[in-house]
Amino acid sequence: MTELARAAGAVRDARRVVVLTGAGMSAESGVPTFRDAQTGLWSTFDPERLATPAAWRADRATVFAWYCWRSTLVRTVEPHAGHVALARLAERVPVDVVTQNVDDLHERAGSQVLAHLHGSLLAYRCDTCGRPAPVPAPLAEPVPRLEPPRCAADDGWVRPGVVWFDEPLPADAWRAARDAVEGLTRQDVLLVVGTSGVVQPAASLPLLGRAAGALVVEVNPVGSELSEVCHVHVRAGAAEALPELVG
Ligand code: OAD
Repeated sequence: MTELARAAGAVRDARRVVVLTGAGMSAESGVPTFRDAQTGLWSTFDPERLATPAAWRADRATVFAWYCWRSTLVRTVEPHAGHVALARLAERVPVDVVTQNVDDLHERAGSQVLAHLHGSLLAYRCDTCGRPAPVPAPLAEPVPRLEPPRCAADDGWVRPGVVWFDEPLPADAWRAARDAVEGLTRQDVLLVVGTSGVVQPAASLPLLGRAAGALVVEVNPVGSELSEVCHVHVRAGAAEALPELVG
């Protein structure tokens, strides 16, 4: 039996499915993964250095310009067949989607997302009082610097609603994700799609799912830090593998 057939059989018989997605889930929609080379204006910037509270304090205009461009891009892309397949699966069996992605492609395909572990590119807020702020207007083209707006309530800076390195995850999202995974049983499946598994604590979820007894299935064209934790390895992209896996 192929790995895909084994995974498909387990999904077909599952009582519940939790799906953990990472940047590879959005890759075939045209969102570059976090650790791919960036293109154009941003090709000389290291995302891991822009996505930090320290970078924000040192140079808000550069960080804000980068996020505005990413927010713009995310609004121009569409969910792919893999996103749609997960939404369809939820019509047959309870599915909890936990994502590290900051786009809204799961929602636009029709899935309800249980937890956005790393926040959202489409939810800006004041960096002082936390009040929600409007998403900036799309940019016609990338710009190297853009002064962030100020909060209407307390004049704080408006920042993207994503989790940066060195910041804690939103407590509610993390609790919901952990509870979902720890609540899995031997009749259930944890699908781990498109994540390199290098960023904690998200990368600990597959281990918790395995400890709970679930069959852990990796969907990734190549191996990852999580491959050893997974029972089944489907070596294909999400847009191709997921429709077959849940079909
Ligand atoms: P990465 O960019 O680290 O990893 C993407 C993974 O997707 C890799 O393992 C690729 O092999 C795989 N991949 C590529 N194309 C794929 C495809 N078509 N189908 C399936 N898989 C594919 O992204 P993440 O693991 O999501 O956090 O990174 C985790 C976190 O690191 C991100 O959420 C972000 C970053 O720091 C924050 O911004 C806090």
